[in-house]
Amino acid sequence: MDRNQTLWDFTSILADAWSLLERGARDSAAGMHYAVVATRGLDDLPNARTLLLWRVVREQRLLYFCTDARSPKHAELTRTPWALLVCYEREAATQLRIHAHVRFHRDDDALRREAWRETPPETRRVFATPVAPGHAAPAPVAGPPPQAMHADSAAEEAGYRNFELLEATVAHLDWLYMPSTGHRRAAFTWASGSEMEARWLYP
Ligand SMILES: Cc1cc2nc3c(=O)[nH]c(=O)nc-3n(C[C@H](O)[C@H](O)[C@H](O)COP(=O)(O)O)c2cc1C
Repeated sequence: MDRNQTLWDFTSILADAWSLLERGARDSAAGMHYAVVATRGLDDLPNARTLLLWRVVREQRLLYFCTDARSPKHAELTRTPWALLVCYEREAATQLRIHAHVRFHRDDDALRREAWRETPPETRRVFATPVAPGHAAPAPVAGPPPQAMHADSAAEEAGYRNFELLEATVAHLDWLYMPSTGHRRAAFTWASGSEMEARWLYP
C-alpha cells in the first residue's frame, strides 16, 4: 500500500518512524544517516553538530553514535545528559525531532568493539590525534595515516582509547510528515514508569 495511505494511526506512524531510523543506521544514502544532535553548551548556549547514526535498537528505543571522548560534546552531555536529535528523510518527506537521555559506553564492551571494527581506517585515525578535537592546530591534521591504523598497534590503541559510543534513549518523538497532499504531525512520549502517550499536533 502507498505509504501515505498507511500513516493515519499512531501504531503505523511509530513503526514507520523506526523503519526510517533503522534504514538511517544501515544506509549512508539515507537522510537519517546524518542526525543533527543538539546539546546544552558548557556556556549554556545551544550547540549542535552532525553525527552518523550507527545502530538502532527499536525494542529498547536506543540510538547509537560513535564519538571521541575528548570532544566538547562529551563534556556537555556529561553535564546535561539530554540531547535533541533532528533527522530528516527527503524521500519520505519526514522529519523526526527526538528528545533523548544520553549515556556513554567507555567500557571495553562488545558493542563498542564492534563499532570500532566497523569504523573505516580513514575515520579511526581521527581518534588517534594526540590533541583533543576542537583545539587549535598548526596545520590541517587528521591523525596517523590510514595504513597505520592497520599496522601500528600504538596508533590503534590510542584511537580506541578515545573512541566511545553515545547511547541515546528516546524519551519523546515528534513526527512531522509533509507530503504535498497535506501535512500531519504526531508526538509520542515515554515517561519513565508509565505507558507511551501519543497525540496529534497541528503541523
Ligand atoms: C557528515 C558528517 C558526519 C559526521 N559524523 C560524526 C560522527 O559520527 N561522530 C562524531 O563524533 N563527529 C562526526 N562529525 C563531526 C561533528 O559534526 C563535529 O564537528 C565533531 O564531532 C566535533 O563536535 P563537538 O565539538 O561538538 O564535540 C561529522 C561531521 C559531518 C559533516
